[in-house]
Amino acid sequence: MGVLLDLGLASDLVSTEELATERQAADVAYEQLPTMEMTGWLTPDEGILSRIKTLAKNIKTNSQILVSIGIGGSYLGAKAVIEALGGDGVEVVFAGNSLSSKELQKALDAVAGKDFAVCVISKSGGTLEPALAFRIFRKALVEKYGADEANRRIVAITDANKGSLHDLAVQKGWEMLSVPDDVGGRFSVLTVAQLLTIATKGVDVEQLLAGAKQAATDEQCLENAKKYAALRHLLYKKSKKIEILSSFEPSLQYFAEWWKQLFGESEGKNQQGIFPASVSFTTDLHSLGQFIQDGERDLFETVLRVEKSAMEIAIPLDDENGDGLNYLAGKNLSLVNEMALIGTKQAHADGGVPVIEITVPEITAFHLGQLIFFFELSCALSAMLFGVNPFDQPGVEAYKNNMFALLGKPEK
Ligand code: PA5
Repeated sequence: MGVLLDLGLASDLVSTEELATERQAADVAYEQLPTMEMTGWLTPDEGILSRIKTLAKNIKTNSQILVSIGIGGSYLGAKAVIEALGGDGVEVVFAGNSLSSKELQKALDAVAGKDFAVCVISKSGGTLEPALAFRIFRKALVEKYGADEANRRIVAITDANKGSLHDLAVQKGWEMLSVPDDVGGRFSVLTVAQLLTIATKGVDVEQLLAGAKQAATDEQCLENAKKYAALRHLLYKKSKKIEILSSFEPSLQYFAEWWKQLFGESEGKNQQGIFPASVSFTTDLHSLGQFIQDGERDLFETVLRVEKSAMEIAIPLDDENGDGLNYLAGKNLSLVNEMALIGTKQAHADGGVPVIEITVPEITAFHLGQLIFFFELSCALSAMLFGVNPFDQPGVEAYKNNMFALLGKPEK
């Protein structure tokens, strides 16, 4: 079973004819997609797995911690998968995803007194946040192990031919993995860019790729991706300009961060696009629930539902019943969570928020792989319905230009 889509509580606002027309447009986009550049992610490549597994095994042999340095698409996918699935492999510490001194110090403190290796991921090879963190961690490696052993503890994941990181890696003889030319950062979670970090943490990367591969050839998944893209575009046209991804599994919080980057950076162009936001329920029902229920009506919600809980905790009977909760005794906590989900969906729909539901059977590597592919495909189609290129991000240069001018970066 794969990713299921339920449009039931979102369809009031749109007519069957409107949805059919938009759905046809999604069909056209789907036909056009493989002719575009940067669509290597459409065919997940299992050929990379043996090298990934060998490198992960080497890291496991000599290190207690892997420092994974990267930002944006070179970070969020691995973080999302690891937060969702855990793993019994090497501890992973992420760094280089901000310019905060406090965060970097935390990462440095985490490796103090431990054996560690560094995996630096930057497709361009020149992004400031990871480049600075990498410089600092390289120094820490050299101080601890000496230059030669430090060089043996670094894996650089970058462009196959160019960039400062590529050139440094060649010069120093670091292990190097090449991010495929035809896959951009935010679509690279199922490539070498993120898989080494994920595999080192002990996640079953074969299953992750198997799920993505299954989704890529599954008619139902393709149909659902088209429908989801079509409906969100229609809702946008009806002034629903914010999409909230909600989940009742807090371990999917970083999955939502990955999703936000995927859709935000792919679609938000030419002064249009749906603003992707996220909430973690039931926690955020006690903070943002009020707004979603009753605030400005410019949003729609996509509930990410997990059918089967990872574990069951039964609610005990209490003889005194001082808290009045005995009516729940003997029931599983997951049932209460599911009832909260159903109740919340209906309440939000009644409050004028169109609700889409996306269901995965459970949080496993296989199903996460399916979900990643499903969102990548629907995101690409959705951006194409907006008439923008899903695979570029010209807008992110603006802040960099200002920052570099302020820092006095020399012209090349
Ligand atoms: O999706 C993207 O392309 C971006 O978010 C990049 O992943 C991010 O800016 C990091 O870039 P790089 O891997 O070149 O350091």
